[in-house]
Amino acid sequence: MTLSIRAIDPVSRPFFAGVASGLDITKPLTPEQAAQIEKGMDQYGVLVWHDQRFTDEAQMAFSRNFGELELATNNLRTEKEQRLGAHIADISNLDSKENVLARESRRRLFSLGTRLWHSDSSFKTVPAKYSLLSARIIPSKGGNTEFADMRAAYDTLDDDIKAQCEGLVCEHSQLFSREQIGFGDFTDEERVQFAPVRQRLIRRHPSSGRRSLYLASHAGTIVGWPIPEARAFLRDLIEHATQRQFVYSHQWSVFDLVMWDNQATMHRARPFDMSEKRDMHRTTVAGLTSTMEQAA
Ligand SMILES: [Fe+2]
Repeated sequence: MTLSIRAIDPVSRPFFAGVASGLDITKPLTPEQAAQIEKGMDQYGVLVWHDQRFTDEAQMAFSRNFGELELATNNLRTEKEQRLGAHIADISNLDSKENVLARESRRRLFSLGTRLWHSDSSFKTVPAKYSLLSARIIPSKGGNTEFADMRAAYDTLDDDIKAQCEGLVCEHSQLFSREQIGFGDFTDEERVQFAPVRQRLIRRHPSSGRRSLYLASHAGTIVGWPIPEARAFLRDLIEHATQRQFVYSHQWSVFDLVMWDNQATMHRARPFDMSEKRDMHRTTVAGLTSTMEQAA
């Protein structure tokens, strides 16, 4: 079997969102196979794999082909409440006894922030490279994940907006994204933990060299700008970036593995019936540097 990667929608999005097949990625890869996958990620930004029956261990091993794993500690769960290991982000609506979280659960309400467009870990000094999400339990309908191509978003900006974006630096924090959905119930300790970090608004991809808009609902200020002006500007950019022609909507099947490049895409969760269980396990590959360290 050999790896094959093709565009999911070659007519409307020939350069964004691919489907990969021909390889059992739950088994160890050769360096050549890992390099081929990385090349596919540079091209498509999002790769979908069907029927990959991952255990957490195998998912971590596959993910480590692309870099170091991030620790999964941003979900308001105390240590005792963690269901999964330190390197597996718990993208579920379940408590530690595998029951669906109550409607008013603080963790559930916090997690609703993922319904806003974002790039994973943009609120960390060194933000994420790839996220890899494995579907273990899915609801009977809904719960799609949508992806937007931030390279296309940059390329299609009007020249004067492009010029305005040049050199701008934003501050990202989960405090800003949660504020947008009216979640402000943070402890002093969490406010310190979620202190804003700076990221360039335009970033250059470390391997493909392509420029993209580095946006997320976590971005709440532009350094040197009045806040309302910054937020109105960022809101317009997100609206531009998430026009339907730049968006792929993934409808999940159990044991799909979707991997995306946070350096070139944004994504958001779509709603589903919260009385049903949804259990997704995410590994996150850390980037190598802050966007502030890249050449302007
Ligand atoms: Fe996310």
